[in-house]
Amino acid sequence: MALNYTEKVMDHFLHPRNIGEIENPDGYAEVGSPVCGDMLSFFIKIGKNDNGDEIISDVKFLSFGCASNIATASMLTEEVIGMKMEDAKGFKFKQIVEDLGGLPEQKLHCSVLAVEGLQKAIKNYEEKKLKE
Ligand code: FES
Repeated sequence: MALNYTEKVMDHFLHPRNIGEIENPDGYAEVGSPVCGDMLSFFIKIGKNDNGDEIISDVKFLSFGCASNIATASMLTEEVIGMKMEDAKGFKFKQIVEDLGGLPEQKLHCSVLAVEGLQKAIKNYEEKKLKE
């Protein structure tokens, strides 16, 4: 049975943004979905904006998963680059789903996984900072 993907999902799946690795990332996380076994790795770099707030200055990801795993991670990277850390921490999977024009019900967990990956990479950064 073919899944009903939007044009935007297909675009991000076929032309993923910010795919790859960041050397010496400030934060890193690997997450897996218990639903399907698909995986995502996230690499983040942290910088500061003109007001001195911490921001996500770069994000890259690697996917070992389905089409919407790739599309949702790609969309997320576009949305959080340049975002203040506080806002990135509150980033919700529903935002990705909305901006992709929707996802099939059985693929919603892919977007949840992408957000979980980002949150864990941020947590990894904060834990490293505490140890400095
Ligand atoms: Fe599980 Fe897409 S089917 S991440």
